[in-house]
Amino acid sequence: MTDLDLDFVRARFPAFSEPSLAGFAHFENAGGSYACGQAIEWLDRYYRQTKVQPYYPFPPSTKAGEQMDSARARMAAWLNVGTDELHFGPSTSQNTYVIAQALREKLGPGDEVIVTNQDHEANIGVWRRLGSGGVVIREWKVDPVTAELHAADLAALLGPRTRVVAFTQCSNVVASINPVRELTDMVHRAGAWAIVDGVAACPHGLPDVQALGADIYLFSLYKVYGPHLGAMTLRRELNAELPSQGHFFNAGKPGARFTPAGPDHAQIAAVNGVMDYMDAVADRHGCDGQPVQAQAAAIRKLFHDRETALLQPLLDFLSGHPGVRLIGRDRAAERAPTVAFLAEGHASRDLARRLSEFRLGVGSGNFYAYRLLQALGIDTDDGVVRASFVHYTSEEEVGRLIGALDALL
Ligand SMILES: Cc1ncc(COP(=O)(O)O)c(C=O)c1O
Repeated sequence: MTDLDLDFVRARFPAFSEPSLAGFAHFENAGGSYACGQAIEWLDRYYRQTKVQPYYPFPPSTKAGEQMDSARARMAAWLNVGTDELHFGPSTSQNTYVIAQALREKLGPGDEVIVTNQDHEANIGVWRRLGSGGVVIREWKVDPVTAELHAADLAALLGPRTRVVAFTQCSNVVASINPVRELTDMVHRAGAWAIVDGVAACPHGLPDVQALGADIYLFSLYKVYGPHLGAMTLRRELNAELPSQGHFFNAGKPGARFTPAGPDHAQIAAVNGVMDYMDAVADRHGCDGQPVQAQAAAIRKLFHDRETALLQPLLDFLSGHPGVRLIGRDRAAERAPTVAFLAEGHASRDLARRLSEFRLGVGSGNFYAYRLLQALGIDTDDGVVRASFVHYTSEEEVGRLIGALDALL
């Protein structure tokens, strides 16, 4: 394995050769990444050639179904789950909503659900609403200074009535990588299910979901170079145990039980494009011929090493600036390159606007991590400034961001 070939990578994202985006540096990747060319091509091809109802015997229909099936199979293999364990819905928020409806039928008064205040609201609010049916909601709180979650605090909340624990692999504001396997082991020892939000982690490398031990694992493909789609893995046994949320006559079909909205066929087919991109990067970096799990692990390391090297100078700048409050850790290796901060004397909204004058795309606000900002004593309206990148970001772009911040702060 060599260093990431940045030219190869950037050549696969049409945004980098799009004239209207020339000179613009994208630092709102945690909101949504650029789409890789392969995903765009699959979408385009689907709409041109196979935009019919899939799974009938006439050729375009059969082909449409085959494309959807291959997308599911390829991504499931990469994630190390069964093909029947991967589900696509409109978004992660929609996927958690549907599972919450199933849990509402399954859990009774006195059962306990643990949520954090570090998560995006998509992995909090739906579970909290189960409280109206008598389910007891317990909150696993962050340390109000470091914004970190501590396993010991979870241990104190787990009990004989705990049925579900929902937490994040990586917060979209704090960005530390939580020790998912350690936590899912704790949850399972307590006899509960672990629901893990991987949305902020996956753009930095798709995981081995089995190794993480999550019963339900969620992420959003529009942040992983693909179409606007939510992906959810659901352990086979749990699928069978939870009440179906689909049409009654489909209750025997595992793939139809938790996607009542009906999948977007073209977007599912376009997941093939994300997998084509992963395969191309793997091949380019000497992984061709290796088992898929080895390729996935190699890509995770490749992205992580690249992002860590780019991230450290930005963290050094922010943590060394007397007027800046950096949220989360200052060691790049321990976190994702999603960097939230406050700058003394600058409203976050204003600073993001000033940065846009440098042709830097940076966001501000609470990013739906509303409860986290409350816990940290941060104004939830103005929120934080957040600069986030992925492996395709260049050193020059990060240098421009640091330069602009230096000029403005
Ligand atoms: C960490 C995290 N979880 C969940 C979500 C919700 O994802 P979706 O937009 O697919 O509903 C987001 C969206 O930004 C997120 O950042």
